[in-house]
Amino acid sequence: VFQQFISTKLTGKKVLITLGSTIEAIDPIRFISNHSSGKMGMELVNTCIESGALVTCIYGNITTTLNTKSNNISIVNAQQMYDKVMDNITNQDIFIACAAVSDFSAKNTKNQKIKNDRRNLTLELIPNKDILADVCKLKEKPICMGFAAETQNMLKNAKNKLKNKGCDVIILNDVSNANFGFNTDENEVTFLSKNLNKKIAKSSKKKVAKKILEIFIKEYL
Ligand code: CTP
Ligand code: CA
Repeated sequence: VFQQFISTKLTGKKVLITLGSTIEAIDPIRFISNHSSGKMGMELVNTCIESGALVTCIYGNITTTLNTKSNNISIVNAQQMYDKVMDNITNQDIFIACAAVSDFSAKNTKNQKIKNDRRNLTLELIPNKDILADVCKLKEKPICMGFAAETQNMLKNAKNKLKNKGCDVIILNDVSNANFGFNTDENEVTFLSKNLNKKIAKSSKKKVAKKILEIFIKEYL
């Protein structure tokens, strides 16, 4: 019954999803990144595909398997993810920002390996563009869902993101607990929107993905 419910409502819908981590080069050897595995995003891709949606998946570094039925676009860094999202956003019905985008990149990426001269090294970082916030500013914007990875003041931070980015839904992800969240197979999240605050109990990322989409569909489709 549950699967059926998702099926009818997502059939033919165009969904664009970002997932995984981005990698910002410091020199040819080193980079800045984070622990995101892309697993949660991939379960959202899989559930959308099973429900008949037309999915574009823009992915960075992932430790999970791609769905061969989505249009898969590989990127390395945050600027490339930004560009590919903007290239593909027209006519999308739903945008899901599940990627852990690096907030900063190196101001001057070195062409040659930085040598170890045993002295302090200062790296200057510059902020990356906020993909989700910019998609939410588009004139014809899709319904937008973001994720908030938090380690403290979770509800307050997530609610601020919902408001400040202008998105419709934020999925609050508690990443302070090492047993779920980043790079694991289980997750525990809270679905937040203007009208809803619903906790989704700890479960496999597959089940959590279905629950997220079930609530999303009820509210928006
Ligand atoms: N996001 C994005 N582009 C960025 C940074 C974040 O699209 N440059 C998206 C993420 O995919 C996620 C949401 O914004 O859906 C929130 O990401 P998060 O890192 O939790 O929020 P930030 O606004 O970057 O704030 P902070 O890292 O300081 O908590
Ligand atoms: Ca961030």
